[in-house]
Amino acid sequence: MYQVRLLPNNITFTASTQQTVLQAALDAGITFPNRCQVGACAMCMCRKTSGEVSYQLEPMLTEKEQAEGWIFTCQAVAESDLVLTLD
Ligand code: FES
Repeated sequence: MYQVRLLPNNITFTASTQQTVLQAALDAGITFPNRCQVGACAMCMCRKTSGEVSYQLEPMLTEKEQAEGWIFTCQAVAESDLVLTLD
């Protein structure tokens, strides 16, 4: 299990490697923007300021978006403790 810290509200929740970051947040009762949950709508995107995630299917992110730390939480699985920012 990894700790995920969600800024700017500084909410923390735990995520296992058996679930997506979005699912972990929803399981923890956190209101997290999402719609399709299949990597298509981009509602669940947020920025990762630290930590590592992995994807089963790499989402469509431009190099710039990747460099800025954008992740699709409905597709990303935590591979370490994470700090995420919801804008
Ligand atoms: S919820 Fe639609 S892309 Fe993640």
